[in-house]
Amino acid sequence: MSKTAILELDGKKYEFPVFVGTENEVAIDINKLRDVSGAITLDPGYKNSGACKSEITFLDGEEGILRYRGYAIEDLAEKANFLEVTYLLIFGELPKKSDLERFETDIRKYTLVNEEMKNIIDGFPKTAHPMGVLAALTSALTAFNPKSVNPENEKDLYEAICKTIGKFLVIATWTYRKSMGYPLNYYDNTKGYVDNFMNLMFSLPTGPYKIDPVVVNALDKLFILHADHEQNCSTSTVRMVGSSHAGLFASISAGVSALWGPLHGGANQAVLEMLDEINKSGGDVEKFILKAKDKNDPFRLMGFGHRVYKNFDPRAKIIKKAADEVLTALGVEDPLLDIAMKLEQAALNDEYFKARSLYPNVDFYSGIIYRALGIPTDMFTVMFAIGRLPGWIAQWKEMRLNKEPIGRPRQVYTGSPLRDFVDMDKR
Ligand code: ACO
Repeated sequence: MSKTAILELDGKKYEFPVFVGTENEVAIDINKLRDVSGAITLDPGYKNSGACKSEITFLDGEEGILRYRGYAIEDLAEKANFLEVTYLLIFGELPKKSDLERFETDIRKYTLVNEEMKNIIDGFPKTAHPMGVLAALTSALTAFNPKSVNPENEKDLYEAICKTIGKFLVIATWTYRKSMGYPLNYYDNTKGYVDNFMNLMFSLPTGPYKIDPVVVNALDKLFILHADHEQNCSTSTVRMVGSSHAGLFASISAGVSALWGPLHGGANQAVLEMLDEINKSGGDVEKFILKAKDKNDPFRLMGFGHRVYKNFDPRAKIIKKAADEVLTALGVEDPLLDIAMKLEQAALNDEYFKARSLYPNVDFYSGIIYRALGIPTDMFTVMFAIGRLPGWIAQWKEMRLNKEPIGRPRQVYTGSPLRDFVDMDKR
C-alpha cells in the first residue's frame, strides 16, 4: 500500500502522497499543498526540499556513498576514464568500446572554436579571473551557435552535447593562456581529451611539449570525481536556467558562475590560499584552528564541511590516495602539503569539528594535486568546471526530457504592509 503523510493546519487535515526513491529516500509530495491549504513550505537553502526526481546520481551523505547511474564512484575512479563516465552520466549506460570510439570521434568534429571568439577574449584584461572569462566565453558560444537545441530531436541533442564537450575544454584553457599572454592553442584531434587539456594549457610554439601520463591519469581521476553531485548549487542553477528553455550554453554559463563562489567550487582555490597564508605566517596550524572556531571571526577552514556529507566525503578518500601517489610519482615535496596534513589531523581530533561532523571535502585535496601538476591556483575552479560539465549536461538533458516546469520558488513576504505614498517634499 502506498504511504501518505498527514498535515494538520488550523484544525484541518490534509493528506499528501509519499514518494519513495530506489534507495528508499522518502519524500512527501506537496505539489498540491498550496492549492488545498493556501500554505507553502519555507526551506531556505533547500535543505529539505527535493527539486526533482533524478536517475543520474545517488548520494547518501550519512553513509558517505556516491554513485553515478548506480555505479560506485570508487569503481568508476579506478576502472573507467573520464569520457566513459561522461557518456555514462549523459546517456545512462556504460558505453561499449564502439560507442565510446564513436562518441570521441563525434566530439572531435566540434573542437574548433570560431576564430572570432578570440576578439572577445582580447577584450578582457589579463588580470581577469579565469572563471569570469569562462562564464562569458561559454555564454558567447550561444552567439556563434544560435540554433536552439530541440531536446526532443535525438540528433540535435546529441550534436549539441558533443559540441559543448568539445568547445568547453578549449575555451577553459584559453582563459589561462590569456592570463599568461600566450598564443591560444588548438585542440589536437589525434590526442585524447585529457591529453588535449595538458597540450592546450601548456604547449608553446617555441618547442615540443611532452605530456606526462602520470599527470593525465591523475587528472582523469579528478575529473571523474567531480563529474556529478546531484542537485548541488551549480547543477541546480543549470537546471533552473534551463527550465526557462534557455539554451545549453547559456545554462552551462550560469552553472560556471554559481560554481565560482568560495562556498562551492571556489573552495579549492580558497584552500590553497589558506594553506599559503598559514605557511607565510609561520605555519602555526593551531592558531588557524582557533580562528575557525571563533564565532566573531569570519574565517572558516576552507575544504572542511559539506552540506550533505555529514560523515565523510567519499571523493576525499579517493583523492587523498591519489594525491599521495601523484606526489610520490612526480617526486614533489611541498611545504603546503605538510601544513595540509597537520591541519587535517588537528581538525579531525578537535571537538568543535567532530561535534559538527566537519570533515575534509573533495576540495581540500584537489588543490594540492592541481598544484603538484603545475596548474596555477586561479585555474583550480576552472578544473572543477571541466570535470562537472558532463553532470551539468546530463542534468539539463534530464530536466528537459522530463518536461519539468519552469523553476519558480515562492516566498513569504516580510516587508511593510500597504502604505500611503509620501510626496517627495514630505519625506
Ligand atoms: N570551518 C569552521 N566552521 C564551520 C565550517 C568550516 N569550514 N563549516 C561549517 N562550520 C560550522 C558553522 O559555523 C556552523 O557552526 P554552528 O552550528 O556553531 O553555527 C556549523 O559548522 C554548520 O555550518 P553550516 O554553514 O550551517 O553548514 P552548511 O551545510 O550550510 O555549509 C559548507 C556547508 C558551505 C560547505 C560549509 O561547511 C563551509 O563553508 N565550508 C568551507 C567551504 C568549503 O570547503 N566549501 C566546499 C564545499 S564542497 C564543494 O562545493 C565541492
